[in-house]
Amino acid sequence: MKRIGVLTSGGDAPGMNACIRAVVRNCLFRGLEAVGIYRGFSGLIRGEMSLMDAGSVADIIHRGGTILRSARSDEFKTPAGMTRALLQIRDWRLDGLVVVGGDGSFRGARDLALAGVPAVAIPGTIDNDIARCDYSIGFDTAVNTALEAINKIRDTATSHERTYVVEVMGRASGQIALYAGLAGGAESILVPEVGFQLEGVCARVLQGFQRGKLHSIIVVAEGAMHGDEVGNYIKKHTGFETRVTVLGHIQRGGSPSALDRVQASVMGAHAVEVLLGGGTDLGVVIEKGEVKALPLVDLYQGHKELPLAFHDLADVLAR
Ligand code: F6P
Repeated sequence: MKRIGVLTSGGDAPGMNACIRAVVRNCLFRGLEAVGIYRGFSGLIRGEMSLMDAGSVADIIHRGGTILRSARSDEFKTPAGMTRALLQIRDWRLDGLVVVGGDGSFRGARDLALAGVPAVAIPGTIDNDIARCDYSIGFDTAVNTALEAINKIRDTATSHERTYVVEVMGRASGQIALYAGLAGGAESILVPEVGFQLEGVCARVLQGFQRGKLHSIIVVAEGAMHGDEVGNYIKKHTGFETRVTVLGHIQRGGSPSALDRVQASVMGAHAVEVLLGGGTDLGVVIEKGEVKALPLVDLYQGHKELPLAFHDLADVLAR
């Protein structure tokens, strides 16, 4: 193992740069060369890569996004695309690969491992939908971004005594909605993992109004329902002035939180150790506070549980 490549793939996430930095710096510390691959698997196929030195990852730990850029690549999923990737890996003399991204990136890493390339993956996605991983890189920052928005909305909701619906990201996961909603004191948190009826949401808004609440905030995960649909239903069935805010891609940016930087650094450095130890077809995660390398297929095929007790608690505390 003399030269390791690193790439970021899928939706970018705050903390990816801290992870890239840890991979490169630990490679150099361990006497290896590090190669940065640009634009994910698409760049791998096209040979868009360059040798990295300590200075290549200077002053990036605090920056959102990824200096290696990211892209989704359908071509990589084709036999021809894999062949082109393997030729580039040979030409660039890559002895191992670190892939940072979400479940789709984990599948790509597995495909490379099955093709004989030592490959490990690190969970980098704001969705926090990777099994056996406490928090994927970017999740904590995204929750805090959503929370900051909810706090601001709470101000104007109080001034105008309105009902607000806040739609957050997460694809099919309700993790961002749950954590940001609980932290933000939302009256209702609508997630794909827990069934709900909009009639019940309206009843909760009316109960709040009758108890003297000046406003209501409903946080909805994009995978549960469109915010506009929730807002229109509430307006129609309660008569309350209702506004909808879709947070969108601001949840993907911003300077990574301390937790994201620490986790990214720990997992990035450990991925190099796993490859040095002969590991492949593994995902590096922090599970119950402990960094470990687990079979890739278990991570992307596994199910990331939503802490339902937190959802129940949020319901109790918002009454
Ligand atoms: O997977 C991360 C994520 O931000 C999801 O939460 C969101 O649904 C999706 O990416 C958006 O994809 P795109 O950036 O391609 O619009």
